[in-house]
Amino acid sequence: MYYLGLDIGSLSCDAVLIDEEEKILTTAVVPTGARNQEAIARAKAEVLLQAGISFEQVTATIATGYGRERVDGRLAAVTEITCHGRGIEALLSGTQVLIDIGGQDSKVIRLDGAGHVVEFAMNDKCAAGTGRFLEAMARALQVDIYQLGELDRDATADLTLSSMCTVFAESEVVSLIADGVEVNEIAGGLNRAIASRTFGLVKRVAPDLSGLSVAMSGGVARNRGVVRALSSVFGQEVAIPPEPDTVGALGAALIARDRVNLSK
Ligand SMILES: Nc1ncnc2c1ncn2[C@@H]1O[C@H](COP(=O)(O)OP(=O)(O)OP(=O)(O)O)[C@@H](O)[C@H]1O
Ligand SMILES: [Mg+2]
Repeated sequence: MYYLGLDIGSLSCDAVLIDEEEKILTTAVVPTGARNQEAIARAKAEVLLQAGISFEQVTATIATGYGRERVDGRLAAVTEITCHGRGIEALLSGTQVLIDIGGQDSKVIRLDGAGHVVEFAMNDKCAAGTGRFLEAMARALQVDIYQLGELDRDATADLTLSSMCTVFAESEVVSLIADGVEVNEIAGGLNRAIASRTFGLVKRVAPDLSGLSVAMSGGVARNRGVVRALSSVFGQEVAIPPEPDTVGALGAALIARDRVNLSK
């Protein structure tokens, strides 16, 4: 028996296919783009093709992410918070605080240590501190988003950005470049700004982090600079699963399996 999880995010459409033993068979991450139906079809086709199975062989599909209601043939649509909690428990068992930073949302989820959601906090409807913010900053710095995570290496000055608003921060970055400030110092300032904003969210669900195990999911967890800044602001390690961007889709696939087995 096979189970499919689909996470239709604002920037990426992720798919994970698992078997009855909860083993991850294949994963896919494709850009959501303007037509999410096409992205859903592509992500689905990629995982099925890699595994060499047809959609008819899939026992159940659970959809999550902002586009979850757009997935045809699903057993159910489940919130991202629930799916990320279930997914991280399978990868980093015992996680108590999960930070998910994606394209347009940043969320902090307090878990009970067994994958169940106790409480969560989310950013307001604003790109500040999200993947979209980082993409705008990468453009201003004229670097690829994939390079951004290594740029802050050897930053020495404690540069502080005066605004986290994407539009203001972008023009501030352009002015700093014009003033001759080194790119690594600017990247360091950006990462610290994201980390302290995220810390504000963390404090809402976990006022005292000491002794709690903290992990991160979402595409921004691939940005090592942000992860280093978070660990430094939190004063403790932030664990990252091998494929942080597919944690929600994995959780969805596992919930599909749970539900089918419960209904037997
Ligand atoms: N290799 C990488 N290096 C640095 N950053 C990365 C990398 N891969 C992805 N990202 C970041 O991840 C972001 C997308 O994250 P993700 O795929 O979790 O978003 P999403 O789930 O579509 O969004 P949301 O959950 O907010 O709807 C990008 O904006 C980018 O900042
Ligand atoms: Mg997401």
